Amino acid sequence: MSLTYFKRYRMEVDLGRVDFTQCKLPPGYKFVSYDSSLLSTHAETKYLSFRHEIDANVFPCLGDYDGCSRLMVEISRKEGFLPGATWLLAHMERDDGIDPGSRRLYDPDGVTFVGTVQGVEDRFGLGSIQNLGVVPEHRGRGLGGALLLKALDGFRRAGLRRAFLEVTAQNDGAVRLYRKLGFYKARTVYKAVELLGTAVR
Ligand SMILES: CC(C)(COP(=O)(O)OP(=O)(O)OC[C@H]1O[C@@H](n2cnc3c(N)ncnc32)[C@H](O)[C@@H]1OP(=O)(O)O)[C@@H](O)C(=O)NCCC(=O)NCCS
Repeated sequence: MSLTYFKRYRMEVDLGRVDFTQCKLPPGYKFVSYDSSLLSTHAETKYLSFRHEIDANVFPCLGDYDGCSRLMVEISRKEGFLPGATWLLAHMERDDGIDPGSRRLYDPDGVTFVGTVQGVEDRFGLGSIQNLGVVPEHRGRGLGGALLLKALDGFRRAGLRRAFLEVTAQNDGAVRLYRKLGFYKARTVYKAVELLGTAVR
């Protein structure tokens, strides 16, 4: 078995310097707060967001629905899991003022879940963004940025001062988005993955 090494950046942000006024959604979209009954919805949205992306090679569980389900259970059981930094994004064909998180239970028609993010406080008191994903059909509308800001706001409300994430270096769009929101590269790390062939990517 040979190993492939993926170059990744750890990016950090000072929450005191983030412009939270940019956290705006286009019409028809709503944030849905975390509830354990939404665990499988997070997993499915994560799977639909990541299945064809580079990170599904780096973390094969992201390219598989069951893998995403296991990952969501694992994240939600972490000691530092922060529901306030964990959000779904819903797209509503009609806006009747009912919370999309509850409506899905009895009237799933017209509500599509299009983005997910989870936040955890690590053992050093830093906010750790787990997986930010927006399904392909809804990208390029500012949703990824808004969802990330919503999670960062959750960290801030929990009293945290700094946050970080890791991103695969080839994921140019994501790196650009994070820089735009105030993240900077703190260090480069390499993730070894068992794949056919050996290369540094
Ligand atoms: C990374 C990801 C979450 C970004 O989601 P997104 O919704 O497309 O993000 P945004 O729309 O906020 O920003 C992306 C781009 O759209 C642009 N944009 C923002 N608002 C826009 C609007 N109203 N109209 C058009 N474009 C817009 C942004 O400026 C940004 O452009 P840039 O690449 O030139 O900087 C998404 O591509 C994704 O899920 N990728 C797969 C999973 C993944 O790799 N996640 C990251 C793991 S670290």
